[in-house]
Amino acid sequence: MAESTGFTRRHFLTVATAVTGGVGVVATAVPFVASFKPSARAQALGAPVEVDVSKIEPGAIARHEWRGRPIYIVHRTERMLGQLDKVVGQLADPASEDSTQPEYAQNEFRSVRPSFLVVEGVCTHLGCAPLPRFEVAPADLGPDWAGGFYCPCHGSKFDLSGRVYSGVPAPTNLTVPPYRFINDSTILIGSDTAGNT
Ligand code: FES
Repeated sequence: MAESTGFTRRHFLTVATAVTGGVGVVATAVPFVASFKPSARAQALGAPVEVDVSKIEPGAIARHEWRGRPIYIVHRTERMLGQLDKVVGQLADPASEDSTQPEYAQNEFRSVRPSFLVVEGVCTHLGCAPLPRFEVAPADLGPDWAGGFYCPCHGSKFDLSGRVYSGVPAPTNLTVPPYRFINDSTILIGSDTAGNT
């Protein structure tokens, strides 16, 4: 049901940490995921953040923080992945040639594994937080909307890989931070090599 009807803010999993003094807490359909290892102080200094992605339901999004920046993690479904091809002609940088991401995320999915998107939740225009709008063709975004992220500040739009649409204020795709999978259910944000933790 949730997948077909799209997503609202309630799908955020918000992790309140001592770093932020408790970021805005949003109701969620799934339990909170606490990630207090390493310590909040270490995280503030840039230490990698470990996230159990098995807690994120298919079609849902979790919000974490790394180096004081919001990190969105989306568990994409097959339906969501199927939308990516359909919007290529409307995108400003579909191959992510002028956008920021690790080399291993410069692909259509902008990710290590297609089922999980990891991007900074920071609009590349002036830094607002894009909203997850995963539903297809909602009334306010129009019949061509295939799901993605919408920035309410000045109307920038991004697809389900964080790729920016043409003709909006944001100049580039959402940034992908360095990260890697430790195992099938855990990713480490802020580290992309085994020796760089
Ligand atoms: S900050 Fe997102 S469109 Fe301006």
